[in-house]
Parts: sequence; structure tokens; C-alpha cells
Amino acid sequence: MNKDELFRWLLFKIKAVANGSNENEPKLRVVCRLLKNNLPNYDWVGFYMVNTKKENELVLGPFEGEPTEHKTIRFGDGICGQAAEKKETFLVSDVSAESNYLACSVNVKSEIVLPIFKDNNLVGELDIDSHQADAFAKEDQEFLEEVCRLIAPVL
Ligand code: SME
Repeated sequence: MNKDELFRWLLFKIKAVANGSNENEPKLRVVCRLLKNNLPNYDWVGFYMVNTKKENELVLGPFEGEPTEHKTIRFGDGICGQAAEKKETFLVSDVSAESNYLACSVNVKSEIVLPIFKDNNLVGELDIDSHQADAFAKEDQEFLEEVCRLIAPVL
């Protein structure tokens, strides 16, 4: 399977998960696992949710990979906080060049964070770390934006 076929297969699987009858949290776990286990450079895959009880804060949701100390993140802080504040995808090919960055592990070299919207409101983010520099191409971004659209109703 080439990368394009793999992306299409994963979108097919993720659509089935999103439409399935499971509870929401296990659905998000399955999505994390599907991405981490099938894409070699996706070393940490997780969701951050917008905290509905505290303004301008993200809370760690389901994830696959090493535990992180960043269980809550203020809007504006790190890559995740900036993506939440700007409501834009942040693709960082070299995290060591970033001044506003929250290190999760010394092994992480690149990161992509995508906002997730429900009825035009930010409800969460998909965050992926890689141990390889420049791991995320434009194709990865487009694929992950589609993943976010599919999974948004589940958040
Ligand atoms: N690196 C992120 C923090 C989250 S961890 O990667 C899981 C950031 O700078 O916001």
C-alpha cells in the first residue's frame, strides 16, 4: 500500500469508528491507535479538549504514546495553545527552533496540531508528535484535516 492508499484506508476505518455505536471516549482512543500504529513517524497521537468549565484552557483527552506532563494547556502556550488561540493548524518541522513550545519528550523533533470545530466552534485539537524532523508533509496535513472533520461530532 502506498501512502495515499494508506490514508484512504485509514479515512474509511475512521469514518466507521465515528459512525459506530461505541461511547465517545473509546472512539477517540481507537482513532489515536489507528494513526499511531499505521503511520511510522506518528510517535504520539492525542486529543486535547477545550475545557468547558474554565475559559481558554485545553485539557488532555485520549492519547497513545508516552505520558505527558502537559495535562492542561492555556490558550497561547506552546504549539497547542497557539493553535487554539489562532484556530489554525500549526505544522512545526523543527520544534527546537520554536521559542513558544512545551516539550513533551526530548525525542520529539516535529509536531502538527490541528484544531477541531463543531458548528464553527473550537471544541478540541488533534496533536501529533514525531521523533523525526520534518515528519509531516502537506499530504499529512490534508489527511489529518479530513480526520478532524470526520471525528468532530464525537468530541
Ligand atoms: N508540544 C506541545 C505540548 C503537548 S505534548 O506534545 C503532548 C506544545 O508545545 O503545545
